[in-house]
Amino acid sequence: MAQQDACTLLDQDHKEAEQMFQSYRSERDDSRKLALTERLCNALRVHIQIENEIFYPAFQQATRDNKLVDESRHEHDEALSMIDTLERAGRPDDATMQKLEAAIKDHVEDERTKMFPEARASQSMDLVGLAQQLQARKSELMAGHPA
Ligand SMILES: [Fe+2]
Ligand SMILES: [Fe+2]
Repeated sequence: MAQQDACTLLDQDHKEAEQMFQSYRSERDDSRKLALTERLCNALRVHIQIENEIFYPAFQQATRDNKLVDESRHEHDEALSMIDTLERAGRPDDATMQKLEAAIKDHVEDERTKMFPEARASQSMDLVGLAQQLQARKSELMAGHPA
């Protein structure tokens, strides 16, 4: 496999999440909605955790863009609280899912248009090495959450 950079790897997760939100919107069956909710929440938790643990600290150290990192971490916390609500509901919760989708859409847009371009422009980030670290941590976390 070609060496990929960390931003490409993270954006792959974003695209998978977008697809799951879309599937949820077109799903009418409650048990399939619940299964999708579980998959989506697990995937987002893992994604947020690897960004918080690995990508954001590396980005912050390289760019000193504390403001962007603080805002992004705050958005992660807001998403996590909606994910908690969805996981506790025990039934499909369309209203919270809709709010989460909108929040994630805005957040991903900021990563794509602000954070990733800044990361790629910075000379001091090893984006290929970070991609390997992100992938390894992701595999480890997913092992605890079989899809
Ligand atoms: Fe992300
Ligand atoms: Fe994020």
